[in-house]
Amino acid sequence: MSPFQLTRTLAPDAASADLRADVLHGLTRTPKELPPKWFYDARGSELFEEITRLPEYYPTRAEREILAARAPEIAAATGARTLVELGSGSSEKTRFLIDALLPGLDAYVPVDVSESALTGAAEALLAERPGLRVHALVADFTRGLALPGTEGPRLVAFLGGTIGNLLPAERRTFLRSVRAMLTPGDALLLGTDLVKDEATLVAAYDDAAGVTAAFNKNVLAVIDRELGGDADPADFAHVAVWDPEREWIEMRLRARHALAVKIRDLDLVVPFEEGEEVRTEVSAKFRQEGVRDELAAAGLELARWWTDEKGRFALSLATAR
Ligand code: SAH
Ligand code: AVI
Repeated sequence: MSPFQLTRTLAPDAASADLRADVLHGLTRTPKELPPKWFYDARGSELFEEITRLPEYYPTRAEREILAARAPEIAAATGARTLVELGSGSSEKTRFLIDALLPGLDAYVPVDVSESALTGAAEALLAERPGLRVHALVADFTRGLALPGTEGPRLVAFLGGTIGNLLPAERRTFLRSVRAMLTPGDALLLGTDLVKDEATLVAAYDDAAGVTAAFNKNVLAVIDRELGGDADPADFAHVAVWDPEREWIEMRLRARHALAVKIRDLDLVVPFEEGEEVRTEVSAKFRQEGVRDELAAAGLELARWWTDEKGRFALSLATAR
């Protein structure tokens, strides 16, 4: 049996139907907004990987530091035979978990909307670990997940702080759906970026080299290519702002002048006033109490909490109650 299997759980045209609905809804409302999952075509996934190597973008390094130190403890505490990872991207940091769980690990199940990220990650992992079984799922983790038959105990990892890209109500629904995937003895490993000073946060989302700006504008390239749009990225400025009340970063695209974007496949013309913005992402930052409460509301109990040395990022291990 091949050590690599890929299952597309989305209907062939589901992604484009979802994109059409999100763009139609998001660009005809006030204020305008787009969901962040549309950043991640092949180019967007590459740009995100570039972001993780930027000097200003600390979350990846901080989470890697925690995983490097704690993977053996996590493996011992969970004894997982199946490792499911939501929004797995390159699976680069996941190596620490996989290596700590092997040889008892039966399967690694990475889940992502980006097929290119999944195949690239599996290729790299399997080249170094021929004994590993990888069953990749192309799926939207906000849409309820049908996991392949897997052996327990299961560890579901949701790393990188990606939970912060969901709005609070979406997080509630999402965490309940994760809880529904778990049976007693299974666990969730959750990465959350922590509240810190504004300058550090804003720099992480507005880097000097302009990689985050290119990542943000990539959603326009996706709309142009997939829906016949004529948005010109040069007409928009990248904006990253810290909202101290809601404790999240917002990324926005701001029209540099009055303009109209035509989207052929939606038969839509979207007018922008000079300075008008589209919110393209929120990236919430957390405190331990908030994480504990959100987990508890979904029927999950915070069992362990680890941070990096500088206290910038946290990994939580939660068990099904
Ligand atoms: N976990 C990796 C990657 C984080 S980037 C890390 O920590 O570095 C966020 C990843 O989540 C991307 O690979 C993106 O394609 C994926 N993603 C975003 N929204 C998603 C959704 N709704 N369903 C599935 N995957 C999603
Ligand atoms: C994937 N996610 C956790 C990233 C974040 O930090 O919110 C996405 C990102 N957006 C801008 N830079 C990185």
